[in-house]
Amino acid sequence: MENVSKIFNKKTKALQNVNMEFKKNKITGLIGFNGSGKTTTFNILTNFIESYKGTVTFDGKKINKNIRQKISYLSAGAEPRNPMRTITHLYQMASLYQVKKSKAKKIIYDLSKKIDFTQFLKKPIKSLSKGNQQKIKFISILLNPNVEILFLDEPFDGLDPIMVNKIKKIFMEMKNTTIIVTSHRMNVVQEMCDDFYILKDGILIDKKKTSESKIYVSFNKEIPIKKIKLLNYVSNIKKTNKEIILEIKDIKDFKKLNKLLISLNQFVWCSIKEKNIAESVFEGYGE
Ligand SMILES: Nc1ncnc2c1ncn2[C@@H]1O[C@H](COP(=O)(O)OP(=O)(O)OP(=O)(O)O)[C@@H](O)[C@H]1O
Ligand SMILES: [Mg+2]
Repeated sequence: MENVSKIFNKKTKALQNVNMEFKKNKITGLIGFNGSGKTTTFNILTNFIESYKGTVTFDGKKINKNIRQKISYLSAGAEPRNPMRTITHLYQMASLYQVKKSKAKKIIYDLSKKIDFTQFLKKPIKSLSKGNQQKIKFISILLNPNVEILFLDEPFDGLDPIMVNKIKKIFMEMKNTTIIVTSHRMNVVQEMCDDFYILKDGILIDKKKTSESKIYVSFNKEIPIKKIKLLNYVSNIKKTNKEIILEIKDIKDFKKLNKLLISLNQFVWCSIKEKNIAESVFEGYGE
């Protein structure tokens, strides 16, 4: 996306000169406050919104029918209170993608098995709980046989933590797919994404890499600072009244550190504060 701006009703600036790049076959997160323009970005990228300023290209080309076929879009919001049976709805989705019923059946049942959904397939959509309705969207987007780009707008909405993990894993295993995801669940964004962008009120304010994550370990004051300063894997040392906080990059280093301290002191008291950078991006904004 280059210099993309979108104004609704001549006054609401939903996006202002936004530049973003999404890497092929990687997972990119798009995060930001409510109303910051995430869904608008998705609607522009998928061509649901056609009138906007700026340029959007896929591999250097403007969106066309060929590219559109490779896109699946899981949109946010509630499922319609649809009286149709779930399986009938999914077969209809499959027919839109021109997938034969027998092939669709296999995809639907295989996916349903993975996400504990089989028992709901023959029930009417409107009788399903919110989280189970969300699973219908998940199955629908994967019925597209040509999918190469997945837009996921709040895909984990309403799902229980076990299901979030299962579905997150399935997305992470899709190595030949470019995934762009929005979520307000920062820990999931952190675990899932290779990169993420932060939007604030329609302006792109930051780009981060999730690998920048650091780990802070706090110790009681009995640890030998002089010896610790010599350790190359401890990148920062901070003292407070009650504790000493060390910054390390890898949890493996924590094990080394702990072993050393135990050998010197017999025992240590410590706690790990994993710095979640996805969460930290909200610190200081919006005040
Ligand atoms: N169809 C529309 N008509 C008028 N204004 C709109 C329309 N769609 C979005 N907006 C406005 O554009 C801005 C961005 O909205 P958008 O839905 O893209 O935010 P979002 O980041 O997806 O928020 P959320 O986290 O709540 O999903 C908001 O001010 C919103 O009110
Ligand atoms: Mg949204």
